[in-house]
Amino acid sequence: MTNVTVKDLTLDFGAVRVLDKLNIDIQEGEFLVLLGASGCGKSTLLNCIAGLLDISDGEIHIGGRNVTWEEPSERGIGMVFQSYALYPQMSVEGNLSFGLKNARVPKPEIAKRVARAAEILQIEPLLKRKPAALSGGQRQRVAIGRALVRDVDVFLFDEPLSNLDAKLRADLRVELKLLHQKLDNTMIYVTHDQVEAMTLADRIAIMRGGVVQQIASPSEVYDRPSNKYVAGFIGSPTINFFEGSITDGGREFLSADLHFPLTGYEATQGALTARPAWLGIRPEAVITGTDVAQQPFTADITVELVEPMGSDTLIYTTLAGTPFRFRMSGKASVAAGDTLKIGFDPAQGSLFDKTTEKRL
Ligand SMILES: Nc1ncnc2c1ncn2[C@@H]1O[C@H](COP(=O)(O)OP(=O)(O)OP(=O)(O)O)[C@@H](O)[C@H]1O
Ligand SMILES: [Mg+2]
Repeated sequence: MTNVTVKDLTLDFGAVRVLDKLNIDIQEGEFLVLLGASGCGKSTLLNCIAGLLDISDGEIHIGGRNVTWEEPSERGIGMVFQSYALYPQMSVEGNLSFGLKNARVPKPEIAKRVARAAEILQIEPLLKRKPAALSGGQRQRVAIGRALVRDVDVFLFDEPLSNLDAKLRADLRVELKLLHQKLDNTMIYVTHDQVEAMTLADRIAIMRGGVVQQIASPSEVYDRPSNKYVAGFIGSPTINFFEGSITDGGREFLSADLHFPLTGYEATQGALTARPAWLGIRPEAVITGTDVAQQPFTADITVELVEPMGSDTLIYTTLAGTPFRFRMSGKASVAAGDTLKIGFDPAQGSLFDKTTEKRL
């Protein structure tokens, strides 16, 4: 188990700055997820940590050692890519042991490590097969196994599940979490899938344009996003934003003709002054039914679209002139055109400055 520290990391591809003075501290045994839209620099950061790219400025420390200029093989890391890149002519066993043979690890030790990895990943019955005779999920497990046998302290994953279908992704996601619980290695995991990030991570680092926007636990980024971008990136269906202004010395948010009371926001979050702002309300924060009357904000809405998801149902409507989505129980019987009373507590939502888009 080892910690990883990235200090003021800058990386330029020619004239383009892809990572800009990036700082991240990954604790020993932590599962850190790097999350962000395509092109934000996730793979680049991971490749820098792995030593596959020469950095322009800054330092990388693994286990307290400055590895900035060390070869990938000297860094004590194992990497799993999106494309499994297994050797097609070798059996699973051959694929697992190949790197160890090259590194002249003694035969009994190789056998021991391959057996252990196969057991952990439940691929023992597949050891004699060639990759062509494996399913996508099985191949991906072999790819993880190749990193496992190296017996390293830090695992780097670059979208290891994105080639798999939805069902298999969900299954392997659970296996990866179990694997981490069992091994307790430090893991750095790149994805653009926020569900993967929320479910796997001890902490999530949300990146945008080569800059970390927020690094915090899944519940923290969900409940207290540090800016409007993070709020919109995390959560499905997406958070609802109202454009308007904080008025009445911070006691109220005004959007179109609607008044949203903010009583309690200052006590739990931060001091408010009158200013243009965004109010973010999660679809899950909306209440319908008998408890609505107790909510600080209530409104009558007309259902525009119903999206049954099984476990719950998404309702699309318009509120304060803005599209508004919320979640109801899957058992609710609602149809387009129905009128519903909804309610929520705006003070439990998130407020962002209109211009800087930072959390207030
Ligand atoms: N070798 C290169 N030369 C020039 N620009 C590059 C090179 N590799 C990557 N880039 C650019 O750097 C930026 C970050 O790329 P990176 O691969 O790290 O993104 P990513 O976050 O992993 O995206 P994705 O989710 O699509 O994999 C992109 O704008 C990309 O075009
Ligand atoms: Mg990538």
